Amino acid sequence: MALSNRAAIVLAAGMGTRMKSATPKVLHKVAGIPILAHVLAAARGAGAGRIVVVTAPAQEDVRSFAKAQGAETAIQERQLGTGDAARAAASALADFDGVLIVTYGDHPLFLAETFAASFAAQEKTGMAIVAFESQGKAYGRVLTDADGLLDRIVEYKDASAAEREITLCNAGILAADAKEFFRWAANLGNDNAQREYYLTDIPALAKKDGVACAIVTADEAQMQGVNSRAELAAAEAAMQTRLRSRALDAGVGMVAPETVFLSADTVLEEDVQIGPFVVFGPGVTVRKGAEIKSHSHLEGAVVEAGAIVGPFARLRPGAQIGAGAHIGNFVEIKKAVVEAGAKANHLSYIGDARVGAGANIGAGTITCNYDGFDKHFTDIGAGAFIGSNSALVAPVKIGDGAFVGAGSTIAKPVAGDALALTRAEQKTSPGWAKEFRTRKKAERAERSKK
Ligand code: UD1
Ligand code: MG
Repeated sequence: MALSNRAAIVLAAGMGTRMKSATPKVLHKVAGIPILAHVLAAARGAGAGRIVVVTAPAQEDVRSFAKAQGAETAIQERQLGTGDAARAAASALADFDGVLIVTYGDHPLFLAETFAASFAAQEKTGMAIVAFESQGKAYGRVLTDADGLLDRIVEYKDASAAEREITLCNAGILAADAKEFFRWAANLGNDNAQREYYLTDIPALAKKDGVACAIVTADEAQMQGVNSRAELAAAEAAMQTRLRSRALDAGVGMVAPETVFLSADTVLEEDVQIGPFVVFGPGVTVRKGAEIKSHSHLEGAVVEAGAIVGPFARLRPGAQIGAGAHIGNFVEIKKAVVEAGAKANHLSYIGDARVGAGANIGAGTITCNYDGFDKHFTDIGAGAFIGSNSALVAPVKIGDGAFVGAGSTIAKPVAGDALALTRAEQKTSPGWAKEFRTRKKAERAERSKK
């Protein structure tokens, strides 16, 4: 629930040059949505009623994405460090009275629970940071005092050999009273190894004012930041692990979860069964007891209870598969409603269409929905039977219970319960094949004599 006295500042002004990409780093996707969208969702999940995303001047794309997601934006003119970036949000939050967290836009695995724990700890002590145990990476080191509160954070580059031995590391999340925070941020100096204004120096300034800083601990799995393509892939892998275990916990059956790819918004209800190597793009809902067999690809689709999809099926945006319907191998469904109990089991393309309840779509049936300029609709009535290898040239309507003979090309309406057949009439010549073989063999024998 969004609270008016909680805010978040999300730092995203880094240029992300190591990504070697025209796309800004925080707009690269993890589990189907931009990295920044994960952070915004987690901040919102922890109750942040206002979110300010700090961007570099050139990052117009990041600002428009953030605004579209309901966040505010600020510009850090020059990249002078994380502390300087956080204070760039001061004017946006000038009228804000409450607690804020500062966090990073390039850390897609931060959990709402971690942000919420930071808000809660701040309430008790006045300030909180998040720390985690890690071996040997170049993170800031967290020094504690006798009471287990924060003494100070020392950046790796500024740390002594002894300080570098410390395994408690700074995650980069800080919670503080907003008014106090901006006052301390204005007083930051840059007398350090990187000549930067460090966010991590804020707790020491607070301490001088008698404000203690609590340490919230979180696991290292949340800490994967993204600076390169390899780290993006690592974040994706970590996110997939998280999404798979959530699905398993929610009662989804997966024989090989490590081969199933999920999107952040994939909805899988209890007793859904997923085979190996299934890919869920964004916007998929699969309801109770439905089964998605191996090697299927789904995107923007709804699969109702008890339906069976795959193996090797493709559901594209707008596919709605009704209860108990069957979509089989090498069947592609796009923007089409397949009503309850209907079947398209082999080798078909069904696009811009309705397939009525209980209809049977034969192997190789194609809805010819596109004339090179526009898309047209195919309406197939309930209980209709479409024979194999039929082409349905849209716009066209097949009535309830109608029958289309195999191999037909249907371009005119077919009334309910009628038979439509466009196949050329069959001609059979008795004995022709035998005569043909005899003649050919004789010709060959004649030639070999010469
Ligand atoms: C920071 C922390 C370090 C912590 C680590 C965790 C500081 C000084 N150090 O180090 O203690 O262990 O994160 O990952 O905070 N950014 C801006 N403007 C700037 C500089 C950075 O917006 O001028 C943004 C970046 O886009 C990024 C985030 O702040 O999203 C963190 O910056 P980064 O340079 O990666 O900090 P680290 O050196 O990793
Ligand atoms: Mg970093």
